[in-house]
Parts: sequence; C-alpha cells; structure tokens
Amino acid sequence: MKTIQKPKLSVVDDRTGKKYELPIENRSIWAVDLKQIKVDEEDRGLYSYDPAFLNTTSCKSSITFIDGEKGILLYRGYPIEQLAEKKKYLEVAYLLIYGDLPNRRQYTEWDEEIKRHLRVNPAINYMMWALPKTSHPMPTIISAIAGLSCLNPEAKNVTDPDTRQLEIIRLIAKMPTLAAWAYRHSRDLPPVDPDPELSYTGNFLAMLFQEGNKKYQPNPAIEKALDILFTLHADHEQNCSTTAMRVIGSSHADPFAAAAGAAAGLSGPRHGGANEEVLKMLRKIGSKDRVGAHIKHVKEGEEKLMGFGHRVYKNYDPRAKIIKEAATKVFEVTGTNPLLEIAIELERIALEDEYFVKRKLYPNVDFYSGLIYEAIGIPTEMFTVLFAVARMSGWMAQWREFLLDPEQKIARPRQIYLGRGLRSVPD
Ligand code: SDX
Repeated sequence: MKTIQKPKLSVVDDRTGKKYELPIENRSIWAVDLKQIKVDEEDRGLYSYDPAFLNTTSCKSSITFIDGEKGILLYRGYPIEQLAEKKKYLEVAYLLIYGDLPNRRQYTEWDEEIKRHLRVNPAINYMMWALPKTSHPMPTIISAIAGLSCLNPEAKNVTDPDTRQLEIIRLIAKMPTLAAWAYRHSRDLPPVDPDPELSYTGNFLAMLFQEGNKKYQPNPAIEKALDILFTLHADHEQNCSTTAMRVIGSSHADPFAAAAGAAAGLSGPRHGGANEEVLKMLRKIGSKDRVGAHIKHVKEGEEKLMGFGHRVYKNYDPRAKIIKEAATKVFEVTGTNPLLEIAIELERIALEDEYFVKRKLYPNVDFYSGLIYEAIGIPTEMFTVLFAVARMSGWMAQWREFLLDPEQKIARPRQIYLGRGLRSVPD
C-alpha cells in the first residue's frame, strides 16, 4: 500500500551547503525546527523574525475561522450572517466557549447561571466611584475587571475546570453591569442594579438608561440590534486583545487579570478604540461635500481612515455589512443619524479610489457600529466599552482553549539583540 508522504519543506543553508527537511503541518512549519540549522556546534541555530506576527501562527484553535480574501467569518463553523440573524448573543457565547449551540435545557441552565451572577460586589462600585467622573470609561472598566481579582482569590486555580467555568460565567455576566456603572459614573448618575427579568441586552440598556425608580422597558428593535452587534463583536480569532488574553493567561494569571489586559489591548485606536475614532472623524469632516478633502488628507499619509483596513480582511468585513443593515432597522426607531450620509459617501469614494483599492482597504467592523450606538443614545466614549462587553465571551473561549491545549506553555518569545557587547562598568 502506497505510504502517504507527509508534506515537507526542503531548504539548503548556503552557509554550509547542508539540506534540511522541515515538516509542513496545517500550512505551517514548526519554528523550533529552524533551531537545527547551524553553521557549527557553537551555533544555537536559526530563529524566525516576525514583528507584529504578520505571518506567524501562535496556536491551534477551533473557535473562529476567517478567510480574509473572501470576507468569510465562521464561529465554530457557523457563518456569522446566520448566527446574527437566528441566534441570541448568549447562545453564540455558549457556542464559542463549548463548541456547539446549546440545546433548550443547556441554554436555560446557561441563562440562569448568567442571571445568577449579574450583580457586582459594592466594593467595585466604591472603587469605580472613587475614580474621576471625567476619566474615559475604558480605563475605568479595565480597573473594575482587574478589581474582580481582589474579590475572587480562588480564580487563580485556572487548571480546575469548575473554577474556570464559574469565572467564565462571572465575567460574561458582570461585564454589562460594570459597563453600565462606568457610564453612570461618568454622567454623575447613581448605579442601577441588574434586572434578571430582562434579556442580556435589555438589562444592559436598563442599567444604562433607567431614570429614577421608573422601570425601564427596552425597545425590542433596539434590544435586538444591540444583541446582533454583540454577536458580531464576540470573537475574531487571534486579534491583538485576544493575543493579550492568551499571553497573560499563559502565565496562569487569574482570568480577571488576563481579561483586564485584553481590555487594555482593545482600548487602542488601531484596535477596538477605532469605533470611537470613526465618529470623531465623521464629525470633523462635518458634511458630505468635505469628504473628498478628508480622503486627500488620508492619501497624503496625514492620518488613517478610521474604520477602514484590516490585518486579515482584504475584502469587505462581513460584520460591517450586517451592521450597515442593522443600522437601518435602528434608525426606523430612532431617526437616522445625520453622520450616516457622510459615512456612506466616505465608503463610496474610498472603494473607488486606487489608493484604497490597491491596499485592499475596506470598511471594518468599527466603521458603522458607532452610528448605531450613537443613535441608541450611547456616548462615543462608551463605544469601545461595548466592544469589550461583547468580546468577553471570545476572550473566555480563547483563554479556556489555551489552557486545554497540551502544546501550549508560558509565552516567552526570543529577540534579535542589537545592543552593546560585554563591557565593564567604569570605576
Ligand atoms: C479591529 O485583528 C482583528 O481581528 C481586529 C478586529 C477584531 O474584531 O478584533 O477586527 C477589530 O481592530 C478592526 C480594526 C480597527 N482599526 C481601525 O479601523 C484603524 C484604522 N485601520 C488601520 O490602523 C489599519 O488598517 C489596521 C491597524 C487595522 C491594520 O493595520 P495593518 O494590517 O498593520 O496594515 P498596514 O499598516 O500594514 O497597512 C498596509 C498599508 C499601509 O500603507 P503603505 O505603507 O503600504 O503605503 O495600508 C495603509 C498603511 O498605511 N493603511 C491605511 C489604513 N490602514 C492601512 N491607510 C489609510 N487608512 C487606513 N485605515
């Protein structure tokens, strides 16, 4: 019987004339296989150099698949379009973490567990309220997430499945409460307790916008649109903040500390902070007829077109398409956002302009999301906080997968040292 040859990469080191065969597995070679390539026995072998990990796989994952050229996004094999249309965010969170959509019993138990953990210890409230009301809500919520470590010392038992399960539930359950508290604090409003009678997004809206003791009834269209937005933001394979979650988690730090680090990574304007920057950009442009001048400014390299471009998508981000459709439904309730026509004109011009076409720059998840958030009444500085609320389920799924992966260890990359050679300290 013909033996199947395992694929391999044959390389010749011109320095020695030696030939090496590097096994190819999953379209990758093991970087450690380069260590054998030496000029002599003193040599420690070759490394791979990949600043910003442009072409490096850091893990094997079964959670999210992206085809950047075709604009495809799958969560555990399901197309994001179908999940956004047919499933609730909490069902998608369960799918990301456990690998399959929950059946009725599983979902009921999952939803009840989440509802049981919506409340947050008042100590976190006191801590958040001690921070300046003027602080951006992202550092406020990063502090609050880290603060949960103080209240749950058992969370450091990351190798215990029951502890992991409880902390995953705690973080997904408490993020809307922490986010709403960050908003209420910034508006000098008293915190609103979670209401387990409402849906995940309905409860979040109530904690944001409830006035006094009058029970808040979320608008179903807005509740549904926010649920879709949360699904679209739930996971996105090895993005910057998820890599931070995995790297911090690799030291066996507790999940609250790792999630605080992930949220910190998300807060940057190149990543999750872009949705806030898009609204600032649209306001700065101010009108449709000034879009051309802004595009010129971008093409001169003065600034990036916020909400455009992506490391992986070299086609239209499928999430941006769904968000654009969801915006229409929200605007039917709230009235359209005047900035929408500027955004549409910006997209139209950019998609026809050689500068953007050549660089395969398309709208990403952040280009339209802020227009919906603003129409719902959420202030610009809260946009990235909402991204963090939704992405918590992805961070938890990726963190759990990392801990269960026998090939993973503590993250500790090497470097190319270009510094000074050995020298003595002068007397
Ligand atoms: C998210 O990784 C993820 O999956 C992230 C995310 C998720 O769900 O987790 O999808 C969420 O972070 C979306 C991205 C949000 N960020 C922005 O919208 C900020 C604006 N975008 C850029 O900063 C940029 O596109 C990045 C950071 C998103 C991607 O940067 P890359 O992959 O490092 O791209 P690059 O800098 O190598 O760009 C290649 C070229 C460069 O031009 P040249 O040097 O070839 O002349 O494209 C240019 C860049 O200058 N370019 C842009 C641009 N993005 C890239 N030019 C103008 N406007 C832009 N937005």
